[in-house]
Amino acid sequence: MPVPLSGKTIVLGVTGSIAAFKAPQIVTRLVGQGATVIVVMTENATRFVTPLTFETLSGNEVIVGMFPDTKKGVASLEEAASGTERLKHVHLAEAADLVIIAPATANTIGKMANGVADDFLSTELVAMTCPVIVAPAMNVRMMESDAVRDNMETLKARGVIFVEAEVGRLASGAVGKGRLADLENIIGVALDALLPKQDLAGRRVLVSAGPTREPLDPVRFIGNRSSGKMGYALAERALRRGADVVLVSGPSLLDPPDGVEYVSVETTAEMLHAVMRSFAEADLLIMAAAPADYRSARPSQAKIKKTAEKLTLELVRTEDILSQAGSARREGQGIIGFALETSAEVEEGRRKLIAKDLDIIVVNNPLVEGAGFDTDTNVAVILTRSGRENELAKMSKRDLADVILTEAITELGWGERR
Ligand code: CTP
Repeated sequence: MPVPLSGKTIVLGVTGSIAAFKAPQIVTRLVGQGATVIVVMTENATRFVTPLTFETLSGNEVIVGMFPDTKKGVASLEEAASGTERLKHVHLAEAADLVIIAPATANTIGKMANGVADDFLSTELVAMTCPVIVAPAMNVRMMESDAVRDNMETLKARGVIFVEAEVGRLASGAVGKGRLADLENIIGVALDALLPKQDLAGRRVLVSAGPTREPLDPVRFIGNRSSGKMGYALAERALRRGADVVLVSGPSLLDPPDGVEYVSVETTAEMLHAVMRSFAEADLLIMAAAPADYRSARPSQAKIKKTAEKLTLELVRTEDILSQAGSARREGQGIIGFALETSAEVEEGRRKLIAKDLDIIVVNNPLVEGAGFDTDTNVAVILTRSGRENELAKMSKRDLADVILTEAITELGWGERR
């Protein structure tokens, strides 16, 4: 029998909800798939299930609440977390491939959202860089409170993956949303996070990202506020889903994902050349960049001095990269464009989709809260050539990248057997 999770280390955080009694089954399922599971319990969780249960099922020592060394006077909890005798060989934040918090109480979710580190689990969570899955379980009133909802929104925007609680009879006897998600559902999300489906394997995806800069003189330029976050998220997700990825990027503070072919450019003309050089080989072009639409008609070779009272710049249109790619496209190539619209988004988007002969256009309104430049989230509508219209709620750019790629696979018919 293949063991899909062999070599993977999963930290299971168990917090103080009655649903903690279901967590041992998660351990059993994950261990059965070959994973190494380290269980971290809050003190309150031990009132519902004993650490011995988890220790027996996982075959590993269970970490509970605080730990002995805090009583011996270590300088800080952080120091204790990385330096206890008991844990000297386990630097969980480095070892973990995935963290699952199941069940997650309102308290733990609140601490995560606010960076509170007052016990072992919350301290480790602040340091974690691997994917984190949260499966909440709580009373329906708590679940619907503004505080919990805001905290969950914050975490989702940071890329934390939620397995939503289900509607059902709760421990209090009330019926409502708050019951821990079905265990198979939690395991499925975990498998997906660790072993993303390779539905872009064998495809070559060309992504443009970031702003461009059009020089006015050797020290000044015309630029825009694009951060590159959307394009970099698309490149990262396409890579994870098995594609060969070329990322053509204007100036951005972000690090290109390991494994992409990275081309750094400055001006719209440079971006055009870089995109067209890779386009013939690409199966899909995603123009997430915000190339400048105008450049100086005559950039000055020398620094412009402030001698005159008035300075008039003459600007001329830059090349439209999408149009040029559109004219060069061959059978079977997909093209995705973006549009920023501040009114009549869907109508304008559909007009541009047709005018530019695109397969998909992703429209967003930068005036909407949670959308636009330099945010970690976006609020978008995806329009496709075949007429689908997918109006999305606010989500992380990483999640939006996945939705866009899935839409592309559907629109281009790549899901069918090749
Ligand atoms: N784009 C391009 N070449 C340019 C400028 C933009 O390929 N020189 C691409 C962007 O990457 C994006 C899309 O075109 O995918 C944006 O289209 P555009 O019509 O420029 O959108 P807006 O900027 O919203 O247009 P307008 O200002 O005309 O509404």
